[in-house]
Amino acid sequence: MSRRLNVLYRKKPCYDIIFAQSFEELWEELALLGCGDRKLCIVTDSRVNEIYGEEVLGLLAGKCARAVKYVFPCGEANKTLDTVKEIYRFLIGEGFDRKDMLLALGGGVTGDITGYAAATYLRGIDYVQIPTTLLAQADSSIGGKTGVDFDGFKNMVGAFKMPRLVYMNLAVLRTLEERQYFAGFAEVMKHGLIRDAIFYEWLIENMYEICERDLDVLEEMMVRSCTVKKLVVEKDPEEQGERAILNFGHTIGHAIEKAKNFQLYHGECVALGAVAAAYLSWKRELLSMEEYYEVRDMFVPFYLPISVEGIDPGEILRLTKSDKKMESGRIKFVLLKKIGRAVIDTDVTDEEILAAVNEIYFSEEDTHA
Ligand code: GLY
Repeated sequence: MSRRLNVLYRKKPCYDIIFAQSFEELWEELALLGCGDRKLCIVTDSRVNEIYGEEVLGLLAGKCARAVKYVFPCGEANKTLDTVKEIYRFLIGEGFDRKDMLLALGGGVTGDITGYAAATYLRGIDYVQIPTTLLAQADSSIGGKTGVDFDGFKNMVGAFKMPRLVYMNLAVLRTLEERQYFAGFAEVMKHGLIRDAIFYEWLIENMYEICERDLDVLEEMMVRSCTVKKLVVEKDPEEQGERAILNFGHTIGHAIEKAKNFQLYHGECVALGAVAAAYLSWKRELLSMEEYYEVRDMFVPFYLPISVEGIDPGEILRLTKSDKKMESGRIKFVLLKKIGRAVIDTDVTDEEILAAVNEIYFSEEDTHA
């Protein structure tokens, strides 16, 4: 039996997050949204299409007005306006109108692109998130942030557009390649660190089962992780204030992601950024030294990096300033007041950022010291 959470938007029920262990209940959920009379377009990338494309299309065929599939080449490099344009062309060709719907089947790139196409096609049509990576299930499928990268800047163009449903088949997590699975786990850890110390302790206590991907433990983990995200986005859906705590680890993380030319996974960069932010929190005497080392070292058993080589700390500092998470020219940096409680700080200096980057920077010289 699946579990569900309802997410509010402006204090009204808006969409359900379904935690299932297969795709079997997907049609039932879509039927509740009146999909029997609508055309549905699955948007997916070439990799996910090979694994789940036909299975999900088969679940819809014959039940809705028409079910079609649009497949784009996988990879962050395709998270562009050009891909969105191709989706518009496909939808126009298939005669999609305002009452029809898009289904984003895939990871964060697919969810963000599909959501943005849904936000803008005919000034907005409905869409559903069917996230198939841990990163997308834990973070990007919830909260209605949609968009594309532009001129090398991540998520520079986008819109807030709430999905009508988020359907998570947790069993897909067991098929993910190890590195991708653990990269997504960084966002789960983030939720504990910023808002729920008891959940953070639970993650550590259940480390073995999480690493083994025990389905029942994964379900509990995702319900608790998504509850944190739900509570934050309900309070501040369009990121006027508190929602920015979800960017913990992202200011330096995004800069590393860009400096490394997207060779590291987003979640790996978030782990590095989280270590840097925890270090700054210690230097600001918000966290104790023991807490800082605990936060840092707890990424290790989950195969996440806590140091990085081949970067130029000065370049990382420069890139943090081009991140869009700025306000009146100041970086909105997220620090930890304690484990389970994040705060936003706009007074972090260049020297502090450089010190934090140097803390996670592993240089050749370190090996010879
Ligand atoms: N990924 C951060 C947010 O949804 O606000």
